[in-house]
Amino acid sequence: MLNSDIVKLLNEQVNKELYSAYLYLDMANYYESRNLGGFANWFVIQAQEERDHAMLFRQYILNNGEEQILMQIDAPDVTYADYKDPLVKAFEHEQYVTASIHNIYDAALKVKDFRTVQFLDWFVKEQGEEEKNADDNVKKFELFGSDPKGLFMLDNEMKARIYSAPSLILD
Ligand code: FEO
Repeated sequence: MLNSDIVKLLNEQVNKELYSAYLYLDMANYYESRNLGGFANWFVIQAQEERDHAMLFRQYILNNGEEQILMQIDAPDVTYADYKDPLVKAFEHEQYVTASIHNIYDAALKVKDFRTVQFLDWFVKEQGEEEKNADDNVKKFELFGSDPKGLFMLDNEMKARIYSAPSLILD
């Protein structure tokens, strides 16, 4: 049994991860409609990862005998100024998710819920990688994105991204 405040935060995190998947699909759609299929591929895979994150939080809640409550997922309400803009917004979004996970971590520590702290350790590390990848995309775009050949090569690089299942497995 977990502290009810922690369960509430974990359920909210399921919703935030599913919203992240929605947001990244929206970004994929933006690039797809502009014939940048590599960028679209990168964001479709990112959306798959977010769904995985949601499923991990869901499973953790259920494994602890708690109720998993699905909440409404908001439609992404964003517009993109140019090709670089989704990359910047994705980086900002990852920073928001990191803060959210750190907030649960902090709350779990305060109530001595060390099981949840241990579960969240994987996400703390994962967020470090997520932020780095998103920041790398912005930096690469700043270096090469304004040149058509550079944009073509970046799109090809993004096309090469393949999905891999999360290293964390919950039975
Ligand atoms: Fe689930 Fe990109 O954080």
